[in-house]
Amino acid sequence: MLPDEHFCQLQKHPEERFHRDRHTLEVGYRHIDTAEMYGNEREVGQAISRSGLDRSDVFVTSKLANDAHEPDDARRAFDESLKALGVDYLDLFLIHWPLPTRYDGDYVSTWKTLEEFYRDGRARSIGVSNFQPRHLRRLHTESDIPPAVDQIEVNPYLTQDELRGFCAEHQIAIEAWSPLGQGNVLDDPTIEAIARRVGKTAAQVVLRWHIERGDIVFPKSVSPERIKENIEIFDFELAGEDVEAISALNRNERTGADPDKFDGR
Ligand SMILES: NC(=O)c1ccc[n+]([C@@H]2O[C@H](COP(=O)([O-])OP(=O)(O)OC[C@H]3O[C@@H](n4cnc5c(N)ncnc54)[C@H](OP(=O)(O)O)[C@@H]3O)[C@@H](O)[C@H]2O)c1
Repeated sequence: MLPDEHFCQLQKHPEERFHRDRHTLEVGYRHIDTAEMYGNEREVGQAISRSGLDRSDVFVTSKLANDAHEPDDARRAFDESLKALGVDYLDLFLIHWPLPTRYDGDYVSTWKTLEEFYRDGRARSIGVSNFQPRHLRRLHTESDIPPAVDQIEVNPYLTQDELRGFCAEHQIAIEAWSPLGQGNVLDDPTIEAIARRVGKTAAQVVLRWHIERGDIVFPKSVSPERIKENIEIFDFELAGEDVEAISALNRNERTGADPDKFDGR
């Protein structure tokens, strides 16, 4: 399965997805992470516009398609994302994958195109996804605006300490994608034991672990009960030793593609 492919499959049920997005806003989520690749920008936009919320109350992120890294294609793709979402600005726009083996490895020109969207105000902030320290270093030396965030795969089995350290040093916020390891970490005995002790579910403990480490999270669920469960994480804290015990579960195990090899196809 390609990275993110399961989101593309959701496209088969746009009506169901629209109601789920609306429920998500009703229970209090205000940060929506979408992408051209997920094929759901239209339903996300509809859910926002019919929610009764002000546009300014919702933080909307989308991402550049892997086939649109050439500057003119990126400009077109950005316009299309705005149109599909029915908004005149994005809070955050990301390069979805660095694709170092494609486009002559020139993600810098793509980044400079995102800088245009930032300068003209249609992207309130710009960032990257799946960038490794060497990719970030190039942006640092060859471009003007540093990425506001790097959205990377992080979960208790993939703690990404080196990359998180680099980002902390360069004031790049971390967004943790697949924060629950796509559900794979939830039956870990260490996590289950902490969950029992603090009276929360394993998913809530893992999401709280991300928050304690300072990362931004957006778990995904198709279940209304789990969507509600996953936001009920602001009424408890984890002790330092519990955060450390979960971090010690690291196995450097990815569920998604290797950003250095993935060519987006
Ligand atoms: N930038 C990138 O390259 C990239 C790549 C992948 C994902 N993402 C972003 O990250 C978001 C989340 O990633 P993800 O869906 O891969 O992984 P995830 O949020 O870690 O896990 C989702 C899985 O966990 C299950 N789940 C959710 N809440 C649960 C709970 N409370 N108890 C038990 N199981 C639960 C879901 O099942 P049910 O649906 O059946 O509840 C689903 O199978 C995506 O929506 C996307 O926005 C970005």
